[in-house]
Amino acid sequence: MREIASVAAMQRLARQWRRRGVRVGFVPTMGYLHEGHLSLVHAARRRVGTGGVVVVSIYVNPTQFAPHEDLARYPRDLARDRRLCRQAGVDVLFVPTDAEMYPRPPGAEFSTYVVEEVLSRGMEGASRPTHFRGVTTVVAKLFNLVLPDVAVFGAKDYQQAAVVRRMVRDLNFPIEIVVAPTVREPDGLAMSSRNQYLDAVTRPQASVLWQALEAVRQRVRAAPGGIPAGRLARLVSACVGRAPAARLDYVAFFDPETLQPLRTVRRGAHMALAVFLGGTRLIDNARLE
Ligand code: PAF
Repeated sequence: MREIASVAAMQRLARQWRRRGVRVGFVPTMGYLHEGHLSLVHAARRRVGTGGVVVVSIYVNPTQFAPHEDLARYPRDLARDRRLCRQAGVDVLFVPTDAEMYPRPPGAEFSTYVVEEVLSRGMEGASRPTHFRGVTTVVAKLFNLVLPDVAVFGAKDYQQAAVVRRMVRDLNFPIEIVVAPTVREPDGLAMSSRNQYLDAVTRPQASVLWQALEAVRQRVRAAPGGIPAGRLARLVSACVGRAPAARLDYVAFFDPETLQPLRTVRRGAHMALAVFLGGTRLIDNARLE
C-alpha cells in the first residue's frame, strides 16, 4: 500500500492511471475506520476488479464542522487506519493535511465553495447549516485529485449520498456513485466513528435510534393506507424519550429520491433521525419497507 500526503503527488498518480486506462475506486473517509468503512472498501474493489486500484482518503475536513462542533476532538488513529487499510487490500491511502487541502497564502486564501441548493436544505442541513457546503466542496476537491471512476459512500449518511449524487449529476463529474448498506452493531446501532464518544451510560441507550426505526417500520407495515407523519413523529419521540440520556434533534419522513417531506407515510417512504446522547449526536435512517 502506498501512502500519499501531497495533493500534487495524488493528482499526478491519478493522471497516470487515467492515461493507462486503470479503473479507480475511491472511498472518501474522515478516518477512525470501522467495519462500515471496510465494507465500502470491499464494494469499491468489487467495482474495479483486481486490475483496478482502490484509493481511501483520510481527511477530517474542517469546512464541514461548525465552530461549536467536534472538529478538535474528532477521533483520529492513523496508525490503526493504516493497518486496517493494508489488511483490506487498499492500494493507495491519501492523507492530505489542512495546508495541502486549504492553502492560505496571504492574499490568496481559499474562497471557492460548491453548494447544492435543494437536497441539502432539510434534516442535517437544517440542523447543521454550513455542513453540506463543506462536504460538497471537499468531495469535489477529492474527486479532482483522485479522478475516480467509482466512489463509494455509506447509506448511514443517506442525505449526504443524495447530495453528492446530485452534485455529480449537476456538475458532470464522470463518476459512478455507489451507496453501500449501513453496517450495524448486534443491537442495531449503526457503525460510526462518533460511537467512540459514547460511554458506559450512553452506549446501551444508543440503540434507541434503531428501536425507533423498527417501531415506525412495523407501524407502517401494518397500515397499507398510510399514516400521518405527525403521528409517527410522536411515536418516535416517545420511543427516544424512554432512553434517559437521549434527546431527539429531528425525525423526518420523506420521499427517498427527492427528499421532500411527506404528510402521509406509506411503505417505500424513507425515515431519518438525529438524536443527542449526552453530548454525542448520532444519525440513522431506513427505508420503510
Ligand atoms: O462521510 C464522511 O466521512 C465525510 O463527510 C466525507 C464524505 C469523507 C467528506 O469529508
